[in-house]
Amino acid sequence: MVEETFVMIKPDGVKRRLIGEVIKRFEQKLMEIVDIKMKLLSREEAEKLYAMHRGKSFFEHLINYTTSGPVVLIKIRGEEAVMNCRIVVGETYPEKRKAGSIRGDFSPFLTENVVHASSSKEDAKRELSIFF
Ligand code: CMP
Repeated sequence: MVEETFVMIKPDGVKRRLIGEVIKRFEQKLMEIVDIKMKLLSREEAEKLYAMHRGKSFFEHLINYTTSGPVVLIKIRGEEAVMNCRIVVGETYPEKRKAGSIRGDFSPFLTENVVHASSSKEDAKRELSIFF
């Protein structure tokens, strides 16, 4: 089923000039970019996006990093887009990442991991509504 999801190229991805590379990988998976913008997130926006991680040990670090430079916010549409974008992105934990995924190919780090994609249909709806 065709659906929409939320993708964000994180500050390290932007700083490393990976915007084109990241977008290419979603497009070659037949995902369609339907809206896109670059923005330096406020603390409030970052805390809203990562509300599910509030109270966890890494929350402060995650918010400081997410607001450390501009990000690219993307509304993306495609067949089972939530699942397929997660496959393109790769796993959260470095030891599980496969070569061929964005994180597997570009990041050895847990936090500075180039890109975010919503992890469920509910999260996609909520995260899209924050920025679009
Ligand atoms: P992301 O998929 O954007 O969702 C939450 C982010 O928190 C995750 O990528 C990582 O960048 C970051 N993070 C930092 N530490 C942890 C941790 N211990 N467990 C999960 N996520 C973490």
